[in-house]
Amino acid sequence: MKIVMIHGQNHKGSTFHIGRLLAKKLNMESTEFFLPRDMNHFCIGCYSCIEDETKCPFWSEKKIILDAMEQADIFIFTSPNYCLAPSGAMKSFLDLMFDYWMVHRPKEWMFSKRAVVISTSAGASNNSAIKVVKNSLFGWGVPFVKSYGIAVQAMNWGMVKDEKKIKIEKDMTKLAKKLSCDKKPRVGIKTRFMFRMMGMMHSAGWDSSPVEKQYWEEKGWISGKRPW
Ligand SMILES: Cc1cc2nc3c(=O)[nH]c(=O)nc-3n(C[C@H](O)[C@H](O)[C@H](O)COP(=O)(O)O)c2cc1C
Repeated sequence: MKIVMIHGQNHKGSTFHIGRLLAKKLNMESTEFFLPRDMNHFCIGCYSCIEDETKCPFWSEKKIILDAMEQADIFIFTSPNYCLAPSGAMKSFLDLMFDYWMVHRPKEWMFSKRAVVISTSAGASNNSAIKVVKNSLFGWGVPFVKSYGIAVQAMNWGMVKDEKKIKIEKDMTKLAKKLSCDKKPRVGIKTRFMFRMMGMMHSAGWDSSPVEKQYWEEKGWISGKRPW
């Protein structure tokens, strides 16, 4: 089993350390990406990806991360809470993945992944930061998503109080148990329903491009086949 970690920050603060702690407990081969270090781009809204994903102006960097995601069983996304949202670097990464949403051209392999979203704040709730990442995971078809948010009252990992670190350690042990499973995750009713709706939409030709309908037809998804 393999992990891919996508950090929404270059620095190794509280969020990074919690992600690493979880990865250590999962004890699997892991590949890490740091944003913006490993993909320092914003989506420029050219829509080239709608016709052909390889036409994205940032495809060479994007492909490296996507290949690692395809190979992995578990995705760990980490981002500090910046103004009640994930970091700009994380949001930019998610924007560059918009063609993978079910409404466009989802990838079969997404429907067998597990994912966890981790966020830390100084004191605020992390729900809104986590939700942004979870929305994309749902849009891509990832069926099993857990999250962990904690207010660390600190500007870096060194400042986090020992009792909080003990709690985080225990929480990561529990989370690792929930994530370690060899069986394929079950695709839930919400994803099944969304996939069916998207199939109907593509069948009716309400796509962003005829390329999308062709993709869905070739996969057999319009005539009832499923990627899971
Ligand atoms: C640009 C910026 C915006 C922030 N916004 C918030 C916020 O809205 N609410 C909050 O509680 N903490 C906020 N923080 C604090 C961080 O979320 C907090 O210190 C977090 O644990 C940092 O994680 P890191 O150590 O991984 O960088 C902000 C910090 C920065 C640098």
